[in-house]
Parts: sequence; structure tokens; C-alpha cells
Amino acid sequence: MVQTPYIEFKSVTFSYTKQEILHNISFAVREGEFVCIIGGSGSGKTTLLKLISGQIFPKIGEILIKGKSITDFSKQELYEHRKNMGYLFQQGALFTDLNVYDNVAFPIREHTSLSEKDIENMVNNKLLSVDLVGTEKLYPAELSGGMVKRVALARATALNPSLLLYDEPFAGLDPITLVKIATLIGKANQDINATSIMVTHNIKESLPLADKVILLADKSIIFDGTPDSFVKNKNKIVQEFLQAASISFQLNEGS
Ligand SMILES: Nc1ncnc2c1ncn2[C@@H]1O[C@H](COP(=O)(O)OP(=O)(O)O)[C@@H](O)[C@H]1O
Ligand SMILES: [Mg+2]
Repeated sequence: MVQTPYIEFKSVTFSYTKQEILHNISFAVREGEFVCIIGGSGSGKTTLLKLISGQIFPKIGEILIKGKSITDFSKQELYEHRKNMGYLFQQGALFTDLNVYDNVAFPIREHTSLSEKDIENMVNNKLLSVDLVGTEKLYPAELSGGMVKRVALARATALNPSLLLYDEPFAGLDPITLVKIATLIGKANQDINATSIMVTHNIKESLPLADKVILLADKSIIFDGTPDSFVKNKNKIVQEFLQAASISFQLNEGS
């Protein structure tokens, strides 16, 4: 039997104003899959995540969450969908007036009625998993870029969500921190066995995490397949992305 995908886009066209941002987009994300959506700046990556999280809705086409169209969701269903979802925002986007502890505790307090003791356990566990024990009382302004991302990761995974959305998790990080964050993302994903969708233009760090790669360009999906077939693909735009990331493979080998 074919399993119903967690997320499915069916011929989705989206525009904020007159200008189309996404045109006739179709793809599916199966449960447990880690999908990387690659695209240049302004290609509609954040828009795509906002569509998945139900912050905005498609004007043409359908977005199905576990088989049901998100435009048909009741308020309660949309709330449940969001509760099951962790969102790592671009730039981390921590609450600047909350310390590290309260940032991570925020979604737990928002969505559960657990005791402070239970919350403390959960927060401590998450801070341990991102190597941030001892930073509880610091405020976002006192953290390095890498630390902000790690707190954001702890916050996004605080409720062990079944769906994790990552918006440019590597942006603005130095190469060493970037590798550390990629490792932590891989680990977080394994720990909670989530379905993950990451939008990024950092191919090098994201390909090793991905089960599937989707390339977004010119409002459309140019490629949808495994990382292995992605690096062997001869499409001009795919090649440009690979070259920009200095990923060179023996493309002519055996072909
Ligand atoms: N709220 C909005 N209103 C109008 N246009 C928007 C809005 N948000 C984004 N856009 C436009 O949509 C396009 C895609 O944006 P975005 O999804 O943020 O791209 P990316 O995340 O790939 O950089 C851009 O041209 C951007 O200017
Ligand atoms: Mg963006």
C-alpha cells in the first residue's frame, strides 16, 4: 500500500501581489523523510515554508497535510498541525527579551500545561543536546551567531515535533560553526525521528543530511530526486548550483 505523504503540494501557484512567486509546484514529502529545498535568494523558499505551516494559503492548487487540504482545516486542526511542527526561523529569531531558558521553554508553555518541574527537565535535556548547558540565564544579545542557532534548534525541537521546518539554518555562520550546526541538525532529526524540510542555498552542508533534494528556480521545480542523482544531474541550473558550491564530480564517468 502506498503511504499517504505527510506533505503534498498539488499544482500550487502562489502570489502575494500580481507577480507569481511559485508556479504549478508539485512535490511530496513522506513521513520520516529529510528533504532539502535548494533555491537562490528570492526564489520563494521562505514562502514555501509559510505555505506548509499554514501562515499563508495557496490561491491555485492544493496543499495536503496527511491527505487533507490545509485550506479545509478547522482552527483546531491548524493549531494541532502547528503544535506538531518545529520551525527554525531564518536568523534564529529568538525572543530578545527572554533568556535562553525561557526561549526554549516558550513552546512547551504555549502548547502544554506541564508543571515547571517537567518543563525544566525538558529544557535541560534540549540544552544538553545542543551543548548549551550553563547558558540558561544569558540573553540573545549576549550569544554568538552559532549559539543563537543552537538555542533556536533547541526551541524548535522542544516538543519533539513530528515535522521540522528549517529556514536557512546555515546563513551567516563561519565554516566551522556551520559544520557543527549541520551535525546537530542531523542528530536532532534522528533523536526525535521527525519529518524534516530544510530550505537553503548551502548545498554542501545539506546534501549529506538529505534523503531527497528539490531545486527551486524560475518559480518551478527544476529537480526532485536523491542527493546522488542531484550531483550527477546535467541540467544547467543544477550544474550552476553545484559549481557555486565547488562540488565537482566526475560527471562524464561512465556516461
Ligand atoms: N509578504 C510579502 N509580500 C509581497 N511580496 C513578498 C512577501 N514576502 C516575500 N515576497 C516576495 O516573494 C519572493 C520570494 O520571497 P521568499 O519566499 O522570501 O524568498 P527566499 O526565502 O527564497 O529568499 C521575493 O521576490 C519577495 O520579495
Ligand atoms: Mg528566505
